[in-house]
Amino acid sequence: MTKQQIVQYGDPALRKVTSRVIKFDKSLRKLVEDMFETMYASEGVGLAAPQIGVSKRVLVVDVDYASKRYLDEKTNKEVASYSPLVLINPIIIQKEGQIISQEGCLSFPNVVIDVLRHKKIIVKYQDLLGKERKLAAEDDLLCRCIQHEIDHLDGKLFVDKRADEASMKKALEEAGFAGVNSPASPLMIG
Ligand code: CO
Repeated sequence: MTKQQIVQYGDPALRKVTSRVIKFDKSLRKLVEDMFETMYASEGVGLAAPQIGVSKRVLVVDVDYASKRYLDEKTNKEVASYSPLVLINPIIIQKEGQIISQEGCLSFPNVVIDVLRHKKIIVKYQDLLGKERKLAAEDDLLCRCIQHEIDHLDGKLFVDKRADEASMKKALEEAGFAGVNSPASPLMIG
């Protein structure tokens, strides 16, 4: 596994619509391993392939790693809890409601803003072997994270779904992103 450089806001790679995965081969497994390595090393809860410069419909998520720890009985030490998920060619097939909550993104260091998302989703995707699967998520970090990462696959960024324009601009400025490829898309959810 190799930790990769994370593409930062302003790089056109983050605005590209990615290609579907056709081959479920060794190079796909290597990509996914690198994505997990990069995500865990950066203490993120999700990462999409374009964030390491690969224009494919692949995302990884682990929302437990950030928040859950278990106690190892042998060493009596707290150990990270892993719940890795790989979604390939994901599509949201059902969505319901709207909810505003705080979000960050590894491609925008030190930017946290209020973002509008669906409250409930059902996603259809393929696993690493190409098998079709479905996942339902509601009202939690997983639900929000999957929507955020799927957006990356379509060249959309969380600033496009900001709940408040003025506070987003302020957060971008404070993090040193003032004037960088400022988001042109109007507020949208869908
Ligand atoms: Co992101």
